[in-house]
Amino acid sequence: MALSSKRCEWSPVFVLLLLAHSATSLVEDGLLPNGDFEAPPPGGFSSEVGVSEGVATIPSWKSNGTVEIVESGQKQGGMILIVPQGAHAVRLGNDAEISQEIAVDKGSLYSITFSAARTCAQLESLNVSVPPASQNIDLQTLYSVQGWDSYAWAFQAEDDNVRVVFKNTGMEDDPTCGPIIDNIAIKKLLVPDKAKDNAVVNGDFEEGPWMFRNASLGVLLPTNLDEETSSLPGWIVESNRAVRYIDSYHFSVPGSKRAIELLSGKEGIISQMVETKPNKPYRLTFSLGHAGDSCKRPLAIMAFAGDQAQNIHYTPDSNSTFQSANLNFTAKAERTRVAFYSVYYNTRTDDMSSLCGPVVDDVRVEQSGCNCISPRFLGLILVWSILLFI
Ligand SMILES: *[C@@H]1O[C@H](CO)[C@@H](O)[C@H](O)[C@H]1NC(C)=O
Ligand SMILES: *[C@@H]1O[C@H](CO)[C@@H](O)[C@H](O)[C@H]1NC(C)=O
Ligand SMILES: *[C@@H]1O[C@H](CO)[C@@H](O)[C@H](O)[C@H]1NC(C)=O
Ligand SMILES: *[C@@H]1O[C@H](CO)[C@@H](O)[C@H](O)[C@H]1NC(C)=O
Ligand SMILES: *[C@@H]1O[C@H](CO)[C@@H](O)[C@H](O)[C@H]1NC(C)=O
Repeated sequence: MALSSKRCEWSPVFVLLLLAHSATSLVEDGLLPNGDFEAPPPGGFSSEVGVSEGVATIPSWKSNGTVEIVESGQKQGGMILIVPQGAHAVRLGNDAEISQEIAVDKGSLYSITFSAARTCAQLESLNVSVPPASQNIDLQTLYSVQGWDSYAWAFQAEDDNVRVVFKNTGMEDDPTCGPIIDNIAIKKLLVPDKAKDNAVVNGDFEEGPWMFRNASLGVLLPTNLDEETSSLPGWIVESNRAVRYIDSYHFSVPGSKRAIELLSGKEGIISQMVETKPNKPYRLTFSLGHAGDSCKRPLAIMAFAGDQAQNIHYTPDSNSTFQSANLNFTAKAERTRVAFYSVYYNTRTDDMSSLCGPVVDDVRVEQSGCNCISPRFLGLILVWSILLFI
């Protein structure tokens, strides 16, 4: 029926457009082409590649500067280089970069997940960009004892074809002291609709960056003050340090498949501005849990809602891995800030150094009760006034 309408005639232009569109296929969620650097370069794996500028010797990638494929077990000055996954990764020398062009859905929000490890530099950081958007990701803090971590960064696609660039902006005396990167993946993010009875967007944290099914370290969400381009839709990470996005395959998660583990005390804060009606009473409820990662107790969080703040200790009933907590507040404005951070600096008891902390999930903000006169009370008044009048 729709096809018979004038609008949908198969005009030659339309067919051409259709063909043009299908020529470049949109990037799919998951690993980018050769995102794990396991595809052998022409001529096989050898140590130095891409020394001559702009020559694409790493399949699917363009490189500039000293970009080297490193192999697991490879040593540098007596130190074994860390390859996060598989047998190969790339190391970016001073000012070196790798990039890949991808076809995206213009206007959509995407998140890039990648793994990175430090080598010998003291101040390693990585500039991840999809021009004109970019962010410097600080690799200085080691969150896990494995020596590498996964990070996520999000961008809004301003074009149909964009270039994802990883650049080492460092200038070390030893030009090989650059970061190692591996396992680069992408995911198109959907911003969940706001539920009628919950003012929090993505309060269950189910929408977030790509996570490999078998990656057991979770994904770090570094500082991101822009709610519009957050890897965790609805939320911002407003602290210097990262929080960890965790999955139920490797951690204890209170609800469904995903949650947030707060790390580094006050230096790891997630927050959201939720819509409220001034002077109305609200209740913030959430699950507070243990990630099941042998994190040393005590665990506690500070929860904020408007001008209310509460310190809540994790004290679950029996063998549950989480408890439910709440905080009552009266909204003072049209938008109210809800925020969480860990009260303590926790580390794992098994390695004594990986950062860990309390888990937050299923965050809700609901209007609680009503200060207005109930219909029943109104009825009573009506009856009384009728009686009095008689
Ligand atoms: C390679 O990087 C250098 C220094 O950052 C820059 O001047 C040059 O234009 C780059 N070359 C290409 C082909 O991108
Ligand atoms: C995860 O699984 C993929 C495919 O099954 C495999 O290639 C990769 O090596 C695995 N990664 C890790 C960290 O085990
Ligand atoms: C990252 O690199 C891009 C392009 O090289 C540059 O425009 C941008 O300013 C850098 N971003 C940061 C945060 O340093
Ligand atoms: C606690 O765990 C034990 C063993 O897994 C189980 O038998 C018991 O029913 C659990 N108790 C509660 C209250 O869930
Ligand atoms: C919030 O108010 C409800 C009842 O209105 C009460 O049950 C709950 O304990 C209060 N929460 C806190 C943290 O005081």
